[in-house]
Amino acid sequence: MLDRLSLSAAAVCLLFALGAPAAQADISLNNTVTGEPLNLDDAPADGKDVAAFKEFMQTGKNPYLGKPDCLAKGEELFSGACSGCHGHLAEGKIGPGLNDDYWTYPQNTTDKGMFETVFGGASGQMGPMYNSVNVDEMLLVMAWVRHLYVGSPDKAEWLDEGARKTLAKYDGKPAPKPGADAPAECKMGG
Ligand code: HEC
Repeated sequence: MLDRLSLSAAAVCLLFALGAPAAQADISLNNTVTGEPLNLDDAPADGKDVAAFKEFMQTGKNPYLGKPDCLAKGEELFSGACSGCHGHLAEGKIGPGLNDDYWTYPQNTTDKGMFETVFGGASGQMGPMYNSVNVDEMLLVMAWVRHLYVGSPDKAEWLDEGARKTLAKYDGKPAPKPGADAPAECKMGG
């Protein structure tokens, strides 16, 4: 029998069910050329549990951008997986330059857009990169690519306006060594 008390208890339960904050949905990712949805399950599991990658999947922003401790790892990964085609300084080789402000696919000026290109590939020799670098390493590589930038600061759309104003072009120096409290995935030689 439903008395007043159990009715209001039911109402409270319903309110909780409806009002409970739903877990924020992950961003959706699409192929740079075809726009087809990308499937993260295509990539090996490595890197998917790293906090920075999970954060990226919620915000679409690369948490490694501007983190000096993580540049060296990105530099190492870039040398191994990208520089053969894009050049040592991302100045371009058989693949286009990634250090200037001209983009074949303008969405590469955002973190989400560049991740989509690295994960899903583009055309020709630019295939999906998930067998060379894991999904978290893609973000580390991208932070190094942004560090190599020598284009117009105004066009650095991956930065907010304030950061664009103070952006220094790449100084040609190798990345600093990660400090003792660098995140595990940014430590070198291990
Ligand atoms: C086997 C050669 C090859 C490798 C390895 C390679 N790329 Fe590429 N990349 C290309 C080519 C060729 C293109 C041009 C594709 C197109 O225009 O569709 C390209 C395009 C791109 C673009 C789009 C550029 C634009 O102007 O819009 C990005 C970003 C990119 N590559 C990043 C990377 C990163 C980061 C890596 C390493 C993880 C990498 N690539 C590895 C050959 C390569």
